[in-house]
Amino acid sequence: MSDNNSNSTIERSSFTNKIGFVLAAAGSAVGLGNLWRFPYCVAKYGGGMFLLIYVILGLTFGFSLMVAEIAIGRKTRLSAIGAFDKLKPGYSFIGVIASLVPIIITPYYCVIGGWVLKFLWSYITMPTNIVASTNEAGLTIFEQLITAPAEPLVWFLIFMCFNILIIAIGVEKGIEKFSKILMPILVALILIVAIYSCTLPNAIKGIQYYLIPRSEEFSINTILSAMSQLFYSLSLAMGIMITYGSYMKKDCNIETSVWQIEIFDTVIAFLAGLAIIPAVFSCGTPDDLKAGPSLMFIILPRLFNTMEAGRIIAIIFFFLVFFAALTSSISLYETCVSIFQDRFKQKRIPSIVFTLLICIVIGSLASLGYGPLSMITFFGMQFLDLFDFISNSILMPIVAFLTCIFIGYIIKPKVLIEEVESSNGNFRLKGLFTIVIKYIAPVLILIILVASILQNMGIIPTI
Ligand code: TRP
Repeated sequence: MSDNNSNSTIERSSFTNKIGFVLAAAGSAVGLGNLWRFPYCVAKYGGGMFLLIYVILGLTFGFSLMVAEIAIGRKTRLSAIGAFDKLKPGYSFIGVIASLVPIIITPYYCVIGGWVLKFLWSYITMPTNIVASTNEAGLTIFEQLITAPAEPLVWFLIFMCFNILIIAIGVEKGIEKFSKILMPILVALILIVAIYSCTLPNAIKGIQYYLIPRSEEFSINTILSAMSQLFYSLSLAMGIMITYGSYMKKDCNIETSVWQIEIFDTVIAFLAGLAIIPAVFSCGTPDDLKAGPSLMFIILPRLFNTMEAGRIIAIIFFFLVFFAALTSSISLYETCVSIFQDRFKQKRIPSIVFTLLICIVIGSLASLGYGPLSMITFFGMQFLDLFDFISNSILMPIVAFLTCIFIGYIIKPKVLIEEVESSNGNFRLKGLFTIVIKYIAPVLILIILVASILQNMGIIPTI
């Protein structure tokens, strides 16, 4: 993906047809963000209110920012750091901050990939009632896993090995092709599980919680978490879409592609929520709503345990989630590698090794943060939550803010509107695009960022 790697000439023209671009971008967008992160954010930050804010932000912020990033990439034919510099010399620092995000996300993404592998393995070797049970101390398999002295580290390293192996033997493209077959199966399976979950006793309460916004659930944290989830899930505000845009053909319609990617990504996240939230009300306790990162791993085993063919479905399900996680983590890993190649003018192999070292250090902290390292917390967060918070709730909003200011006031929206129109003829929503980029997004992001930092430091009360 880098500008100076040996494949660049082949890769720059690799999206030969229009749907190819959408599939590749959607493939990068769909992953653990949709399946694991979205459901727990909905559960934790206000159910229907979160969903409503998420959709509104998606239609405005998400749309405008994705159009902007793809247009920047296609116009400059460069990835983030070089692209900002080419549009206005001296502004590559925005690309540099954006590049920090994948470097923080990749390691902890692999830690969660390791959790998924552990559940896949558990279902292969154990019946569903055992996976859903608790030990003498009342701990679920998931809690036993993350508090164990070394086990999460081992699963994380196994997951990393898959990444390295695929990258080292250079079969990413093959894996991507495979994922195009497996992704639709994953969607179908989530749909089946969602329908099943909605028919459980008491599920209706969960469906109401999920779909009906209640004003008492509204807070600054709901907006901040919805915004950071949106960026994470659409792979925005981290330079990725700029890189994808740089490979996009001139005759490809940016506006329609963005809608397609957004709809695809949101529908999958929505279905994952529909599979998990109603099950919380049926097989869990209200406390589980606040479970955070562990939600999927606590609720799904209970759900599978109530199913007729639960074990087979669980094995297929976790295999597909593993695959979705693997394709995303490989593309995250490759992003880090190309950042080091571009930024430090390194060769490919040293960059791969350097990325690996960073992943092992940050990933080890994240994987052991709930167990042996649980005494170390920052503002009440363990390592994994901390890394997630820094990248998603601080860095990504900052990058989004700077990108908006850059487009709105430095290069002016007109430059990108022209880029969009060079293939479209007409950019239908250019009015919305301009207003969001110039006024709404920067003001809102600034208010939310400042409020959330002050709240987290206890300086102003939570609203
Ligand atoms: N959007 C991905 C998901 O929902 C995660 C992700 C963030 C990602 N940045 C990325 C994937 C870069 C690939 C490349 O899981």
